[in-house]
Amino acid sequence: MYESYYGLNEPAFAVTPDPRFLWLSETHEEGLSVLCYGIVRRKGFILLTGEVGAGKTTLLRAALDRIPVEFLDFPETAMILNTMGLNQLDLLKLICAEFRITGIQPQSAQQLTTADYLIALNRYLLDRLRDGVNAVLIIDEAQNLSPAALEQVRLLSNLETDTQKLLQIVLTGQPELRQSLGRPELRQLRQRIAIEHHVEPLGRGDILSYLRHRIEVAGGQYEDVFCDGADSVFFDFSGGCPRLINLLADRVLLSAFSKKLRPVPVALVELKAKEMAATTAEESSRPTRRGKRRRGRKR
Ligand SMILES: Nc1ncnc2c1ncn2[C@@H]1O[C@H](COP(=O)(O)OP(=O)(O)OP(=O)(O)O)[C@@H](O)[C@H]1O
Ligand SMILES: [Mg+2]
Repeated sequence: MYESYYGLNEPAFAVTPDPRFLWLSETHEEGLSVLCYGIVRRKGFILLTGEVGAGKTTLLRAALDRIPVEFLDFPETAMILNTMGLNQLDLLKLICAEFRITGIQPQSAQQLTTADYLIALNRYLLDRLRDGVNAVLIIDEAQNLSPAALEQVRLLSNLETDTQKLLQIVLTGQPELRQSLGRPELRQLRQRIAIEHHVEPLGRGDILSYLRHRIEVAGGQYEDVFCDGADSVFFDFSGGCPRLINLLADRVLLSAFSKKLRPVPVALVELKAKEMAATTAEESSRPTRRGKRRRGRKR
């Protein structure tokens, strides 16, 4: 909408995890190295955590783009993106579907069981190993998995030959995932994590480069878009969370475009940041449906 007015060929601040826009802060660079190194070197279990909107999914996608095909090819990657409410069997079904394992034979006349999926998966992974191919299971948003489903993931890491792990497993999620992994019943899984990284928020000094990079990838020039000093307002508003920076930038550009302001003055960024902060505060103080019901029951 406002793109061409600011010299952009496409939106610079979408909230999709598009790896083309990745800007490597120190923490993002380390996260990317951990993912690429862990997968290529077949480290077994890899853990990547970070706050909401920190850039975990973007890093996963960037790692998959960067790992050369001789180390990882797409059919050999199972990426589970939606983990909400999955039980152990659902998880196995999804993994087999993602690896495109078909023709799973039930051992009994009943429905397919956990064992049937595990047998099929093991056979598939042995075939991949024979072909010299690295099979990778990526579970994003793993903080939503129940302890039982996480334990199922650990059992998958037992699929191995005498000398090699058959499956590389990458778990990514919000900080609650670390808390789950700290539970005594998951200590076996915790101990298997070979390599890990926590994605930190961007620092104040990172914001200018972050904004500049995204604008340049979209085909523009920073100086045509924001006035000096805007980056500091973005940091104060977002605490360094990239998704919040993008949301604010998009709103600011839309408003500035309607007022025909180019480059965008700092005062307008401050105004929009205040408005967004007020909306967020109002939303979080508004009782949720569940909260209302709970209060209703008490009375
Ligand atoms: N290092 C980065 N460089 C460029 N853009 C980034 C970076 N980190 C995050 N972003 C952008 O921030 C937004 C949120 O990123 P992403 O969806 O990867 O976060 P997330 O950590 O997976 O969030 P959630 O916890 O909600 O799943 C996306 O638009 C993404 O492009
Ligand atoms: Mg994500």
